[in-house]
Amino acid sequence: MKHILLAGGTGYLGSFIAVELKKRGYTLTVIVRKSSKSKDLHSIADHVIEGDLRDPKTYEGVFKNIDMVISTVGITKQKDNLTYMDVDYGINRLLLDEGEKNSIEKFVYVSVLHGNTLRDLAICDAKERFVDDLNHSFVESTVIRPSGFFSDMEEFYEMANRGRIYLFGDGSIKANPIHGRDLAKVCVDGLNLMESEIEVGGPEVLTHKEIGEIAFKATRKPIKITYIPDWVRKFLLKILPWFMNKYSFGPVEFFLNVMAMDMTAPRYGNKKLLEHFKSLIKKD
Ligand SMILES: NC(=O)c1ccc[n+]([C@@H]2O[C@H](COP(=O)([O-])OP(=O)(O)OC[C@H]3O[C@@H](n4cnc5c(N)ncnc54)[C@H](OP(=O)(O)O)[C@@H]3O)[C@@H](O)[C@H]2O)c1
Repeated sequence: MKHILLAGGTGYLGSFIAVELKKRGYTLTVIVRKSSKSKDLHSIADHVIEGDLRDPKTYEGVFKNIDMVISTVGITKQKDNLTYMDVDYGINRLLLDEGEKNSIEKFVYVSVLHGNTLRDLAICDAKERFVDDLNHSFVESTVIRPSGFFSDMEEFYEMANRGRIYLFGDGSIKANPIHGRDLAKVCVDGLNLMESEIEVGGPEVLTHKEIGEIAFKATRKPIKITYIPDWVRKFLLKILPWFMNKYSFGPVEFFLNVMAMDMTAPRYGNKKLLEHFKSLIKKD
């Protein structure tokens, strides 16, 4: 069976990909940084390699028997004061360098839906530069472009739990967020597909208002939604860079932009948001 190197296996999506790869019988090596919580991966992966993913020396000898790579490495919640160019571009570029040196068969990379039209955002600029590199490489690649993840929708649940949800605009913007388990199947399928890009979302297309209502249904609290005029969102985008450093502003900038965009992609999977929100109650 083919040997896959997974980078990002300690993250939300990566942890589901690791399980899916083993379920399908692949040999799995994960590469993680020393500081990360990789305990669960030790019982799933065949090999766990620890090191600084920004140091080219970490990759020495690692790719010798690797056939294909999947990477979900990227900054989501900023905690290291690194830039997107350091991580979303830089680490993935190092993985591709090693992949090219060792003539791997395939590189599957997770970017974002509409990332190529959002290149003025720091996160998308870095991700799409890497997509450009993949497109210029002789290594075959598939770029996965998901809509929002269920993990990100948890913010709606948190607000509902506190008793009130705040939305920008009139709540009519649509999205079809996807569960990590469903998306992991698409990423692993990507190893053997010819498509250079796959846009994908979850099975339910929902307005932000409907997502809020589902969050209230899960928490069994009365629906209380406050609609914030969209000019406030635009104003925040203008003034926040003056008050926040670029590391903290990056995720906020991405969030404030996608909250005003249609984020629907071809539907896939069967995991529903209500069940996900209900599963969070058990964790509370
Ligand atoms: N969340 C969304 O709605 C969404 C939508 C579309 C696309 N995406 C993209 O999909 C990808 C996966 O998302 P996710 O939610 O699974 O993210 P996540 O849970 O934050 O996982 C990110 C992974 O990247 C690794 N990483 C980050 N900084 C690193 C560094 N400096 N050195 C080494 N490893 C580093 C993390 O390792 P540690 O565990 O050590 O931190 C983790 O394994 C991201 O690139 C994200 O931008 C997300």
